[in-house]
Amino acid sequence: MAQARIGVTGLAVMGRNLARNLARHGHPVAVHNRTEARTKALIEEFGHEGTFVPASTPEEFVAALERPRRLVIMVKAGAPTDAVIEEFAPLLAPGDMIVDGGNAHFADTRRRERALRERGIHFVGAGISGGEEGALHGPSIMPGGSAESYRELGPLLEDIAAEADGEPCCAHVGPDGAGHFVKMVHNGIEYADMQLIGEAYDLLRRAAGLGPAEIAEVFRAWNGGRLESYLIEITAEVLAHTDPATGAPFVDVVLDRAEQKGTGRWTVQTALDLGVPVNGIAEAVFARSLSGHVPLREAARRLPGPTPGRPVDADVFADDVEQALYASKIVAYAQGFHQIQAGSDEYGWNIDLGRMAAIWRGGCIIRARFLDRIRAAYQADPRIPTLLADEHFADAVGAAQSAWRRVVATAAELGVPVPGFSSALAYYDALRAERLPAALIQGQRDFFGAHTYRRVDRAGSFHTLWSGDRSEVEA
Ligand code: 6PG
Repeated sequence: MAQARIGVTGLAVMGRNLARNLARHGHPVAVHNRTEARTKALIEEFGHEGTFVPASTPEEFVAALERPRRLVIMVKAGAPTDAVIEEFAPLLAPGDMIVDGGNAHFADTRRRERALRERGIHFVGAGISGGEEGALHGPSIMPGGSAESYRELGPLLEDIAAEADGEPCCAHVGPDGAGHFVKMVHNGIEYADMQLIGEAYDLLRRAAGLGPAEIAEVFRAWNGGRLESYLIEITAEVLAHTDPATGAPFVDVVLDRAEQKGTGRWTVQTALDLGVPVNGIAEAVFARSLSGHVPLREAARRLPGPTPGRPVDADVFADDVEQALYASKIVAYAQGFHQIQAGSDEYGWNIDLGRMAAIWRGGCIIRARFLDRIRAAYQADPRIPTLLADEHFADAVGAAQSAWRRVVATAAELGVPVPGFSSALAYYDALRAERLPAALIQGQRDFFGAHTYRRVDRAGSFHTLWSGDRSEVEA
């Protein structure tokens, strides 16, 4: 009866493409969908691509899988995932594996993993990045779960993953929710990267006076250098596109309200809980949210801005923006990797950060040339406190800082919002500061709430008798 090495249930576009990818790599794959029409459509259209075993019912689906069973669920995160797990788990045997390839919250993955472990079933929360194309041609895969389950699943997943320099973009991330946690931070970085690119575009347009097609050329040129990445590449494509209906630049006919499905927000919420400053990601999430607040924006439209100055020299300015973008991008990644380190420490995942950089080099949305450098930084020092301390990145950011400051200053002068660029610069300046005004904040806290402070010259906690004689007491 068992004919399939792996099964995919949930055949919307991601699930369907993942199943096709498996079949195309010679892995017989069982396919199932709640509404059978989708299963039939897949077989009709793509049945010739490999060995598919269509199943009409969960029982048929499970019976089609060789043991230990590998069952991939590709359904909406949240309640639908729990419903599907509940439908299939009673049909499975100890040692079987359920892989959740959706964008689940890592806390849900931890809960599900624990519950299924008690029933002897391995639950693998696998982050999968690369959109529909990636699922079909090779995504970046970030599987969590037990080492034992990775032994059974790893070779299959590595086989269908993207490749970068001959290495598969898939690695065991760590136990329980580690895979989905890393995918969540990947998405947070994706938000930050997209926001920075958006700001670069806005500046080139509003400060340098370039049109979308010209800016597309600037991005194309950048993509030949250290900024080379999928997001820069597609930005050039989007900017060069003309709306067929109006003949206007496509970017001008799109409503300027950025939407989000929630993974960026989760990254920031989690970072707040972990106490990790991820300003770049937070600014990106807030910028999307601000863009969607229509009444707020309308109410503020009349607020005065600066008097328009002369447009800056486009070539010189574009070079400055490239440097600001590179430096801000390094900061965004440094913050994201800091968050992964913090999550790994908090949950005991022992995540290899260099490995994460390596599996993001291909297949995923944030794939970029400079991930090689990030990998090298963690290979040189796996516990480096921040990527900014790595020699290569320290030099790069140091060399870019004058241009970066000019860009932020120009944006402020012209009234162009650059929350990503400016918060990244503030983060950089805060980290390198000898002294921070946090000392004053401690003083204020002690003044109004006797919250105490520590001193630079003595151990212990202290309180000043602010409403008394202002002498200091040990707390
Ligand atoms: C990926 C993406 C993907 C994400 C979309 C949309 O890695 O393939 O991160 O998982 O869902 O990019 O995200 P938003 O709708 O939140 O922008």
